[in-house]
Amino acid sequence: MNGRCYDFLMRGFEKVALREARRTMLSSLEGRILEVGCGTGVNFEWYRDPSMVTAIDPDKDMLKVARSVCPAGLRVEPWGLEDIPLEGYSFDHIVCTLVLCSVRDPGEAFETMKRLLKPGGTVHLLEHVKGVGLPGRLHELCTPLWSKVAGGCHLNRKTLRLLEESGFQMVKSSTVLTFIGTPFVTATARLQ
Ligand SMILES: C[S@@+](CC[C@H](N)C(=O)[O-])C[C@H]1O[C@@H](n2cnc3c(N)ncnc32)[C@H](O)[C@@H]1O
Repeated sequence: MNGRCYDFLMRGFEKVALREARRTMLSSLEGRILEVGCGTGVNFEWYRDPSMVTAIDPDKDMLKVARSVCPAGLRVEPWGLEDIPLEGYSFDHIVCTLVLCSVRDPGEAFETMKRLLKPGGTVHLLEHVKGVGLPGRLHELCTPLWSKVAGGCHLNRKTLRLLEESGFQMVKSSTVLTFIGTPFVTATARLQ
């Protein structure tokens, strides 16, 4: 996806809620951090020590923008989560924002994260999830078509439930924005 177009489309959401949610979630993190699907690098400004961060994304167009805003010391790699050479990598935190809606298999993604985290490590998510009631039914109905036109994005994922089913213990979660029935949620969860 063209990174500049993506940033333009997201501008309103960032202004209303997402930018503040990113700041709250990321600005106090310490230790080794992996950011999965960094896109255009919108989270980079919030890391206290960029030299502790490795950011990955397989999309070269998004990475072009990410590299242009990348602070000194932050490492950017053109990898998907499934491409990370697991040996020699262990992180205190894994950050994943607006990514799990479009990975092929979010359950598999959580299993990979478990292998990449140190014991007691935490994941920090900002994701949109399936709504409740009528919006939820519409999300179910629209996802097959929507995912074709929106780069594999699924409106109907129950990401927080899956996070807990995958063996993470929820530390905190909150809804930061609801846009036409679509909740955008943040969550911090610990590897048990
Ligand atoms: C909607 S963008 C979100 C970008 C950024 N994280 C944000 O918060 O704005 C989703 C990003 O996830 C990346 N992505 C998709 N599947 C991935 C995977 N399996 N591993 C790593 N990144 C992935 C895409 O290339 C894209 O840049």
